[in-house]
Amino acid sequence: MKAVILAGGSGTRLYPTTQVVNKHLLPIYNKPMIYYPLSIAMLLKIREVLFVVNPEDVVSFKKLFGDGSHLGMKIDYIIQQKPRGLAEGLILAEEFIKNDTVLYLLGDNIFFGHDLIKILEQAKKEVEKNGGAYVFGYYVSDPERFGVVEFDETGKVLSIEEKPKKPKSNYAVVGMYFYDSEAVEIAKSVKPSHRGELEITSVNQRYLEKGKLKVKLLGRGFAWFDAGTHDSFLEAGEFVATIEKKTGLMIGCIEEIAYRNGWIDREELLKLAEPLSKTPYGKYLIRIAEEQEHAL
Ligand code: DAU
Repeated sequence: MKAVILAGGSGTRLYPTTQVVNKHLLPIYNKPMIYYPLSIAMLLKIREVLFVVNPEDVVSFKKLFGDGSHLGMKIDYIIQQKPRGLAEGLILAEEFIKNDTVLYLLGDNIFFGHDLIKILEQAKKEVEKNGGAYVFGYYVSDPERFGVVEFDETGKVLSIEEKPKKPKSNYAVVGMYFYDSEAVEIAKSVKPSHRGELEITSVNQRYLEKGKLKVKLLGRGFAWFDAGTHDSFLEAGEFVATIEKKTGLMIGCIEEIAYRNGWIDREELLKLAEPLSKTPYGKYLIRIAEEQEHAL
């Protein structure tokens, strides 16, 4: 499986902050927002990642991640000329995805929870083995802001709608989608919505019509943030700060994950920590490198 991370868009909901700075490069507590979705791909042992980025921001992303080799990964970039919608990223990623399966991540979504990775591993296995699409629902009080999934009493999915005025449930579809390679062709057949965007929800609707959409609910043990508004941005940062201070472990620390995955060795981790050694982030990396046994 490969991963595609969407980091384009206009970020208008965070204006004026995002007028000249890309939203995904803003800090969620102590690291750029984009580290969090990247870390999800890494925790699933996905080493090949493509970032979909705006023309004016590609230089910054390349500065941040390069070709990924320092993390033992292969990272690439593709430019989205205009924010024409989430499904366009799949079309742009056609060459990258080829016949593989794909984890499609929104760059402003942040996840945390006990056994999250176990659950995602199941979704990954399912799509790798049987194809189709696998998405997740999360209870929210403001479903009209999201893609919304409706179930019957047996848990069967009845509908999925993008930002409905009258939501049929309180379950938002989160920005993390597992697809087989057919997603690209499906995305190509999607027509722009009334707001002029190629919606990812339209892709999911097609899978639903074909009987190939699985939806799993993420329950109370999980935290999910779509950090695209001022409030959710702040909440996400506060959440990460609280968890990190309580546990002494970082969320979304990509160098640590690369090390624990065995993609880089101790020397390489220390080399990455060196220029940051006076900062809390660098000190943390040094601490991880010096641990006798891996705590996780
Ligand atoms: O966060 C989950 C929600 O994300 C889902 O429930 C919705 O179904 C889905 O449409 C999406 O809704 P948003 O309104 O939150 O999407 P937003 O415009 O914020 O874009 C999500 C991410 O994708 C963000 O990191 C920017 C990036 N993006 C967006 C567009 C429109 C792109 O890279 N290219 C684009 O063309």
